[in-house]
Amino acid sequence: MSETAAQEQLLPGDTLQAKGPGLLTLRRGAARVLLDNWTGTSTVPSRTLYPHQWSWDSAFVAIGLRHLSARRAQCELESLLAGQWADGRVPHIVFDSDLPHGAYFPSPDFWQSSRAGRAAGAPTTPETSGIVQPPVHALAAWLVHRADPELSARRGFLARVLPRLQAWHDYLLTRRDLGGGGLAAVVHPWEPGMDNSPCWDRALTRVEPAASSMFRRADLQHGHPADRPTDLDYGRYVRLAADYRAAGYDDRTARHAFALEDPAFNALLIVSELALADLARALDRPHRHHRERAGLLTRRLVTRLWDGAAGQFLVRDLASDTLVTERGVTGLIPLVVPHLPREIATRLCATLASEHFSAPGTRLVPSYDLTGRAFDPTRYWRGPAWFNTAWLVHHGLRTHGRHAHAEELREGFLEQAGRTGFAEYVDPVTGAGRGARRFSWTAALTLDLLSTAREEPSS
Ligand code: SER
Repeated sequence: MSETAAQEQLLPGDTLQAKGPGLLTLRRGAARVLLDNWTGTSTVPSRTLYPHQWSWDSAFVAIGLRHLSARRAQCELESLLAGQWADGRVPHIVFDSDLPHGAYFPSPDFWQSSRAGRAAGAPTTPETSGIVQPPVHALAAWLVHRADPELSARRGFLARVLPRLQAWHDYLLTRRDLGGGGLAAVVHPWEPGMDNSPCWDRALTRVEPAASSMFRRADLQHGHPADRPTDLDYGRYVRLAADYRAAGYDDRTARHAFALEDPAFNALLIVSELALADLARALDRPHRHHRERAGLLTRRLVTRLWDGAAGQFLVRDLASDTLVTERGVTGLIPLVVPHLPREIATRLCATLASEHFSAPGTRLVPSYDLTGRAFDPTRYWRGPAWFNTAWLVHHGLRTHGRHAHAEELREGFLEQAGRTGFAEYVDPVTGAGRGARRFSWTAALTLDLLSTAREEPSS
C-alpha cells in the first residue's frame, strides 16, 4: 500500500456522524493535521515554526495519536526517548538531521549536544538540545499502552520505555533538586514550556542578555512579532543556554542564574509517577515506590508552592527562596494531582472561576491573570489561552468531580480549536487565533476530547 493510501486509512470514519456532522468534520480536520505533520517516526509541532521534535509536544501528540494509530503513538514516544541522555534527561528538542540549521533557532550547532554534552551523557546521535520540558511522558505512555494493550505487549512497548522513563524521573528528582526540598527545578524559561510567562520576569532580571549579534531568530520568519517573545527575552534565553552549555550541561557544576520550582512541572511529575506505578504493575515489576513517591511529592508541592492567600500555587524562585506573586496558569494545573487536600482543590476551582482566570468569551483558561499588570492577550504565554493547559485543567476538574465545569471547558476547547484551524493559542477574551495554525497538540488533544467525551455523569 502506498504511504498516501495508508495515511487515508487512518482518517476517522463516520462513528461521530450520529453526534452531528460538525464533530465529524472537526475530527477529520484534526486527524489531517496529525497525518500532515508526521515525519515517518514522529510529529513536528508545526511544519513552519517548530520543524523538529519537541518533548512535551510529543507526549501530548501521542495522547491524541493513539486514537488514530496506537503504533504511531508508540513510535512517537520511542523516537523521543532515543534522544535521552545517559544521565536520564529527556531533551526538549530532538533535531531532524535532514533540516538545514537555518530552519530553527537555536539549531544543533548552538546546543552542540554530542560534543558539549558528552560528559553529561548526550548521545552521539541524534543531536538534541541540553534542557528539558515538563514530564508528561509516563502519563502519555500509559494512555498509549491502554489504547491497544495487545499491540503494546506484542511490540514490547512497556518493557522498552519503563526503564527510560524511570531514569528520566530519577534525573529530575536528584540532579534537579536544586532547592533541596525534594521538588524538581527548572533552569531555563523554555523548561516549564511557558517561555515568556510573567512568572519568570523577576528571576530573568538577574540574567545579562546576550548581544543580539550572538543569534538570529528564525521564529519571526513564520510568527508575528506581537505573538512572540521579544528580542530582550531571546537575549536572556540565549545567555542562559550558552552558560549551561559552557558548563557541559552538568547540573552539579553549572551555576544556574535562573532556578525555579514550577507548580505545573512538578504536578505533571506526580501524575507521571502514578502512571509509572501503573506501567510497572502491568509488567509485574515493583511499583509501590512510585505511588509512595507521588504521595511524598504531593506533600512537598503543597508545602513549598501552595499560597493560601492567592488561592493557587505559585512559582518558587530559588535565588531568594521566595514565592513569586504572579498568577500563571501553571499555578492551577496541580488540579490534575488526584490526592490534593480537598480544600486546596476547592480553592483552585474558585480561582479558576474568578476574575483572574474566567474568560466567558472563549470558555478557555488564560495563561496569565486577566487582571495582572503584565497581561497581554496576544503575546505567547503572557495571556493567550493554550489548548494543552485547557486539556490538563479539564482533566483536573474531572479528577475532582467538577463535571459540569469540565464539560464547559471541553466545549470551549472544541469550539475554539475548530474555529481557529487548530491554532497554537488564542486571545482568551475574543477567541482570535494566534501563533501557528494546524498546530499538532491542539489537533491531538481535540481528537482526545472527542474520543473521551461524556464518559462521566454531569455534576
Ligand atoms: N518554545 C520555544 C520556541 O518558541 C522552544 O522550546 O522556540
